[in-house]
Amino acid sequence: MFEVRPAANAEEFGRALYGIGQYFGAPADEEGLERFLQVLPVERMHAAFDHGGIVGGAGAFPFELSVPGGESVACGGVTVVGVYPTHRRRGVLRALMDAQLRDIHERGEPLAALWASEETIYGRFGYGIASWAGDIVLPREWAAFAEPLERRGRTRFVTPEEAQALFPPVWEALMRQRPGVFRRTEPWWRLRRTRIPDEEKSNPKRFVVLDLDGEVQAYAVFKPEMKFGRGVPEGTLNVFEAVGATPQATAEIWRFLLDIDWQATITASLLPPDHPLFLLLANPRRADYRSSDALWVRLVDVGAALSGRVYAGDGRVVFDVRDAVCPWNEGRWAVSADGAARTDDAADIALDVSTLGSAYLGATAFVQQLWAGRLEELVDGAVVRADALFASRPLPWCPEIF
Ligand SMILES: CC(C)(COP(=O)(O)OP(=O)(O)OC[C@H]1O[C@@H](n2cnc3c(N)ncnc32)[C@H](O)[C@@H]1OP(=O)(O)O)[C@@H](O)C(=O)NCCC(=O)NCCS
Repeated sequence: MFEVRPAANAEEFGRALYGIGQYFGAPADEEGLERFLQVLPVERMHAAFDHGGIVGGAGAFPFELSVPGGESVACGGVTVVGVYPTHRRRGVLRALMDAQLRDIHERGEPLAALWASEETIYGRFGYGIASWAGDIVLPREWAAFAEPLERRGRTRFVTPEEAQALFPPVWEALMRQRPGVFRRTEPWWRLRRTRIPDEEKSNPKRFVVLDLDGEVQAYAVFKPEMKFGRGVPEGTLNVFEAVGATPQATAEIWRFLLDIDWQATITASLLPPDHPLFLLLANPRRADYRSSDALWVRLVDVGAALSGRVYAGDGRVVFDVRDAVCPWNEGRWAVSADGAARTDDAADIALDVSTLGSAYLGATAFVQQLWAGRLEELVDGAVVRADALFASRPLPWCPEIF
């Protein structure tokens, strides 16, 4: 059997990180490792050992994740999961997941969340698809809005250092509006969102803010890829992130991006299905939106996680929860506007914890899960009641893959 334990020092951390590095390319250099350690504490990296050598790793960022109702809940942001190809399909990932979920539980983080490299990996560990997001490839000639937009704000370029100070309040506004957003710390803004790596210096990311009514209400991170063919612009403007604190600011920052000269196409990714852009555009079909699973959520402590979000109406549903990996969650839970509590009452719905994780942020309806055979309705009408209770708008949005 493999031994799994948290990395004891930076050197072990680096070798565990090379579990995913095996697939990305070279091991992290010293600078890269130093940067990683500023956002992922050493002890949050689990390493798997075989005969004394490290053969895999799994990290968990100490996140707070926004949940329906506008509050945030402590969440292990699962990342850099990788097993050396010499040791694949021998149970190393399972051992890492077991140890990591126990650790997240002991730390009192009720949630875990991740982006899955493949959809087939994490369901067995209790994760469910909790949000959907997609990308657009919009030809500029189809970038008109349906209605004229009165532009009241002003855009200006800012340096990465200015961005680190000006972007966070807009992000915080997003956290209050939408579930699924994790809080970015100062090192995160500096080292992950606004850093310009050496290889990017010839055409760096641009940072723009929109000033409106005396404050920064929106920002964008983007990069043009210039190209001309037979005298005509064929370039692409890649939008990495565009966030507005208000509907007006969101519309204005997008109008700015769509109007930049010399681009034939505008691309953006990770947009939620209910992004206002799709109704602002006169021809949303032309954006060629393609969506798939985005953030996956795992309820590590079912009671605390369910009590951390708000519910609609005065209904009550009793779930009988199965959880093979975190058995402390098993049993019956009553959920209502008062939160979640253990109960001896008869269950309305029986399900695996991964199904509850899917429903948690409000993106995946219980009825869809019923139709997909992912739950058992024990009392007629219980699924309709559960959907009314868990209903939450806007949909979750996690704008960054971690
Ligand atoms: C995905 C990965 C971590 C799996 O590690 P592993 O040690 O081979 O997995 P395990 O042997 O512990 O497998 C545990 C279970 O998951 C299943 N499984 C593992 N990887 C899977 C995959 N990619 N697709 C489907 N099932 C998978 C195994 O069949 C096993 O199933 P079982 O419990 O029913 O027997 C490893 O293949 C890897 O590093 N892949 C490349 C990097 C990557 O994708 N990392 C995930 C980033 S989100």
